[in-house]
Amino acid sequence: MTQRVLRNFRHLDVRPVAGALGAELQGVDLARDLADDVVAEIRQAWLDHLVVFFRDQSLTPAQQLAFACRLGEPVEYPQLKGLPDYPMITPVVKLEHERTNFGGIWHSDTTYLERPPMASMLYAREIPPYGGDTEFANQYLAYETLSDGLRRVLDGLVGISSSLKADASKTREDRLKEAGVEQKVLLAEHPVVRTHPETGRKALFLNVGHTTHFKGWTERESQPLLEFLFAHQIRPEFTCRFRWQPGSLALWDNRCAMHNPVNDYHGYKRVMHRITLAGDRPV
Ligand code: OGA
Ligand code: MN
Repeated sequence: MTQRVLRNFRHLDVRPVAGALGAELQGVDLARDLADDVVAEIRQAWLDHLVVFFRDQSLTPAQQLAFACRLGEPVEYPQLKGLPDYPMITPVVKLEHERTNFGGIWHSDTTYLERPPMASMLYAREIPPYGGDTEFANQYLAYETLSDGLRRVLDGLVGISSSLKADASKTREDRLKEAGVEQKVLLAEHPVVRTHPETGRKALFLNVGHTTHFKGWTERESQPLLEFLFAHQIRPEFTCRFRWQPGSLALWDNRCAMHNPVNDYHGYKRVMHRITLAGDRPV
């Protein structure tokens, strides 16, 4: 199993938050026009730790977008409207009277797209007094800890993702209704084990939010193995949990990490600004 590297950077202090993944990066003000070598260090730390966190940032939408553009290509969220002046920034909001939270299940973002995002960036604007944390899970580790036998089986399998998988679509249903969008079924096929295009490492790439079955298998046939994998992928020792504050920013790698927003703050408002960065076709 590959150990996480802990490098010394010139511009960043890297504080891992758990054994498996996640690091807080200190020493950068994201509102500034960052030098190329600072951006390169942030990218390296992000590849090493899968999800990186920044605290106490004060960003206008334009500044958040400018930072995102240094890392990748912002794209609109399928079927959801962005901010009026910033279509690439999707508000992720749960209001006091709402019970359902956006994306409230373990998932990797929008794997029902042919090219799922490389990364997503979430910036906290309003955070409840307690609760509303987000969990992350390392999918390199999830793959590497399986037996040789099961890895060989999974290496040859393709998973089908659907935007209409009941549990996950429910977490977006209110927002879509509000936006007056007819839910269109989006489907995509991806290898169950993908090779990360930048690190070259293999990661499990399926998720309980969107994966319905294996290609060439029925849903009934797929279910027992999927259930085993869905439970394995989120073993506590593969995860970290982030406690948000206003001004916190998280950037996660959708190609090798899953996430799960915890819905434990009914009666309180939570407002995030989200930017999605374009990805390539998983192989
Ligand atoms: C997302 C998502 C997590 C959160 O924006 O893709 O799943 O903590 N949100 O709100
Ligand atoms: Mn998500």
